[in-house]
Amino acid sequence: MAFVFAVTGSAVGLGNIWRFPYIAGENGGGAFVIVYLLCVFVIGVPIMMSEIMLGRRGRRNPITTMQLLGQEEGGGRQWRFVGILGVGSGFLILSFYSVIAGWAIAYVFRNAFGVFIDADPHAVDGIYRVLTGTWWKSLAWHTVFMGMAVFVVARGVERGLERAVRILMPALLILLLMLLAYSLSTGFFSEGARFLLYADFSALTPGGVLVAMGQAFFTLSVGMGAVMAYGAYLPQQTSITGTTLMVAAADTLIALLAGLIIFPIVFANGLDPALGPGLAFETLPLAFGRMPGGIVFGTLFFVLLSFAAWTSAIGIIESAVAWMVERRHLSRVTAASISGAIVWFLGIATVLSFNILAEFKFLKGTLFDNVEYLASNILLPLSGLSITIFAGWVMARISSCEELDAGPGGIYKCWHFLARLVAPAAVILILVEAATGGMISRLFAA
Ligand code: PHE
Repeated sequence: MAFVFAVTGSAVGLGNIWRFPYIAGENGGGAFVIVYLLCVFVIGVPIMMSEIMLGRRGRRNPITTMQLLGQEEGGGRQWRFVGILGVGSGFLILSFYSVIAGWAIAYVFRNAFGVFIDADPHAVDGIYRVLTGTWWKSLAWHTVFMGMAVFVVARGVERGLERAVRILMPALLILLLMLLAYSLSTGFFSEGARFLLYADFSALTPGGVLVAMGQAFFTLSVGMGAVMAYGAYLPQQTSITGTTLMVAAADTLIALLAGLIIFPIVFANGLDPALGPGLAFETLPLAFGRMPGGIVFGTLFFVLLSFAAWTSAIGIIESAVAWMVERRHLSRVTAASISGAIVWFLGIATVLSFNILAEFKFLKGTLFDNVEYLASNILLPLSGLSITIFAGWVMARISSCEELDAGPGGIYKCWHFLARLVAPAAVILILVEAATGGMISRLFAA
């Protein structure tokens, strides 16, 4: 169970409560959500199983693990580049993740001081804009968050973490259910639920499908060696399939709950579902401002959200730190400080994207939009693709079969089919489809 909690701690975070609702809103809701769910279970789950399996077999940091297994399975040591790609995408992801997590910490205090009591959408929007629009405020909270993450990793106290997750997750769930009760009381619940669950495929673009797949990787923490690093500590007799399915189910549940909470608030207040990265920060405070006991519950909620982000961030740095400690013989403190400094520096790009550089736009939008797009929708799928190709094609069946608890039975066959054929094909198709602006679907239509 300790492992399940550790991986759940890594999976559940801003990806569920901040990112999922905002990109679902930007991509039209229902149909996007269906594609996302398919991606989680058909692509994400088999790749996550592969990643945990490789981690357990290699028992090292992700880079060394890929190198050793590459040699062992006759694929060559260059497979280490998959590990490097993963760690690199992790740094990029953490660079913006930390800034958003910093906002969550800032919201703890705003709630505690009762700033949101009876606030209208306009006031809440103003508070969001002042925080994100003032570069030094955003930078300060980003610094606080990175400092906290580096501190834990430097001291190697992750062991205490899974105990914290044991309390954190149920508490978060309870608060989400309270928020759900609020959303039910707005009178706009069915509208919100309809937006999230009613599939109108005409609203979905090829680019949207790619974003849905990127989110599947992002939310499961798959494709960057984070779960591989955890897999290295997994006892031999623990079931990888069972663990993965449990984590994926819990993660999906929390994301859907967040959506069911946020969209009714959006419609009740005449807001735009495609509000963007501020969505959670501009809707949830409205609920806390109006529900009884909102100061206490709102404060607690943002504490828990910051914690959830923290347990995710730790998983990202840990793989780089493990590599520096094992291979470069640095101390944990040095390794964690170096990684933290790199991520902190990269994070400045995100900080400035909401103020000084807000008008500096190219390709996908601001610097933040581009970093987020590149890391989540391109790098994660590419490294996930490499991982599943390794597990399904390079690795001997006998090795993967030995490692995957199920033995040569139905579960193993199912995993092998998904990891070897379905997941790689789907990732490639979706990447090509998005890159060519829908060429594949046009070919099929013709
Ligand atoms: N899965 C985390 C979330 O949803 C983010 C994350 C990505 C954590 C990759 C670790 C590695 O918030």
